[in-house]
Amino acid sequence: MAGKIPAQFIDELLDRVDIVDLINGRIQLKKAGRDYQACCPFHDEKTPSFTVSREKQFYHCFGCGAHGTAIGFLMEYDNMGFVDAIEELASQQGLEVPREGGQHSSGPDLRPLFKTLEQSASFYAQQLRNHTQAHKAVEYLKARGLSGEIAAEFGIGYAPPGWDNLIKQLGTDKEGLQHLRVTGMISEPEGKCYDRFRDRIMFPIRDRRGRTIAFGGRILGDDKPKYLNSPETPVFHKGRELYGLFEAHQALRKIQQLLVVEGYMDVVALAQFGIRFAVATLGTATTGEHMQQLFKVTHKVIFCFDGDRAGAEAGWKALKTALPHMRDGREAKFLFLPDGEDPDTLIRKEGTEAFSRRIENATPLSSFMFDHLSKEVDISEPGGRARLAELAKPLMSSLPKGIFRDILQQQLNEMVGLDTMHIMTDAHQAPAPKRPVTPPKREKPIPLVRRAITLLVQHPQLALIQNLPEKWRELDSTGTNLLGKLLELVQNHPNLKSAQLVERWHGTEEYRHLSKLSATELFIPEQGLEGEFRDTLMAIEQQIRTDELNKLVEKAKNEKLEDQEKNRLNQLLMENSGQK
Ligand code: CTP
Ligand code: MN
Repeated sequence: MAGKIPAQFIDELLDRVDIVDLINGRIQLKKAGRDYQACCPFHDEKTPSFTVSREKQFYHCFGCGAHGTAIGFLMEYDNMGFVDAIEELASQQGLEVPREGGQHSSGPDLRPLFKTLEQSASFYAQQLRNHTQAHKAVEYLKARGLSGEIAAEFGIGYAPPGWDNLIKQLGTDKEGLQHLRVTGMISEPEGKCYDRFRDRIMFPIRDRRGRTIAFGGRILGDDKPKYLNSPETPVFHKGRELYGLFEAHQALRKIQQLLVVEGYMDVVALAQFGIRFAVATLGTATTGEHMQQLFKVTHKVIFCFDGDRAGAEAGWKALKTALPHMRDGREAKFLFLPDGEDPDTLIRKEGTEAFSRRIENATPLSSFMFDHLSKEVDISEPGGRARLAELAKPLMSSLPKGIFRDILQQQLNEMVGLDTMHIMTDAHQAPAPKRPVTPPKREKPIPLVRRAITLLVQHPQLALIQNLPEKWRELDSTGTNLLGKLLELVQNHPNLKSAQLVERWHGTEEYRHLSKLSATELFIPEQGLEGEFRDTLMAIEQQIRTDELNKLVEKAKNEKLEDQEKNRLNQLLMENSGQK
């Protein structure tokens, strides 16, 4: 297990990176006053409301409310995970990402493996152009309708016939050979080693960041095995990777939906016909890990299957795997193609528009589920309806709690009818169209506390003011506790800037609030900041006193106050008049 990335490193990174340069490399920014502007990449708009501040190292969209630091931008725009985003920024700066606990815990150095795989991919791509037998491969690809551009985009290559073409290139010394071995590029039955891929069309499989991590190799004709894939290696776990995901990210600004298909050729053909959001599992059924990857990138996933029996079975299996991942706001649909077709053949036959319509008209998860279940029973009979309820039970309970599950449950209840309802005995299975109305226990933040936090997050140096009011700390609330922690952090790290401060809260519940507050416009001139901050803290104290005062006054109306309470009341009344 790799250790945590130290917070100081993230600080340093955000110090070095310039968010304006970073974003400008992806979208064209225009200078507007002190800030930079563009049309927001996260929602559709005609006039720019997306603002990037060099000073604050933040972006913010006044239209859709998107906001964040350089790290947040990469996470949103490039759909990266937190650690990936940090690694990306670090590599741009030529920095190594340190891990807590030192070298030891960061695991083996995988870079030579990535390098070997990259060099292998280049070698195969080059062989597709230069090898004496390359015409065979080129003809095959042409016969399958692949354009040169799309082949280049996906890095498609050719492993020429022969036992040691790659070994001669990359395995000439002990170390090189070892890297070929670990990356699965050579086979070694009985101590003899030779190239794993021979006389095959090569599809490099890339990870989210575009690094080649494995290959799929297709035979040129009808021999077997049709496809040969890299084995599991330290950089390749078949059950997690999705072929074409990197290329989809490259081609699209924002991925609205993902279409999951079965084959390499399907992904490439769809891309050539303008459907850039297709990905393929690598000859395995869709796993839970795939689901996680998919829903990390988008909220809408369409699973595509052949129209035959095997396709229907695979679809049902995918549905069951998807259920536990169907949190509210996520959508899964199922597309079954006509028998005998796969996306590659079909889109070439009927074109992009017709195929897109199929995607649009794909079957929602709920319909697929209930249709499938209904086929197994006779709903016109009470017994059949009872059986339906039984069959649906394990599926329903694998769904996460939420509105989606409630809606499905309601739909099921209607199908099953009241006469069979008694079968569903589990408490959480009982018909529950209404959600329980116990509100989540959360303290309402005092707007003043929020204001103080906003000021501090945007201008961390405020924490360094001498003799700040302290009594507000008596209010033991989520907001004041956070305020206290922010103050303490800046006092211990006086050079922290706004973005760094916010990133310290990464992964916590407060993070979203903090990054939102950091982007809220306060319209306070520089000279007024200190006064404003002080006043806000004082106002919190005042409010605490007023609340206490009101409570005591209220109590005094109904019952006799204790001596202690009377004293406190007097004191508060005095302080109150003194304040005004
Ligand atoms: N597959 C595999 N090994 C095989 C056959 C298939 O790993 N022997 C995987 C590959 O990832 C392949 C996918 O399963 O892309 C789907 O297989 P299939 O539908 O048979 O192939 P297609 O992708 O349609 O390839 P082609 O159109 O070239 O026949
Ligand atoms: Mn095919």
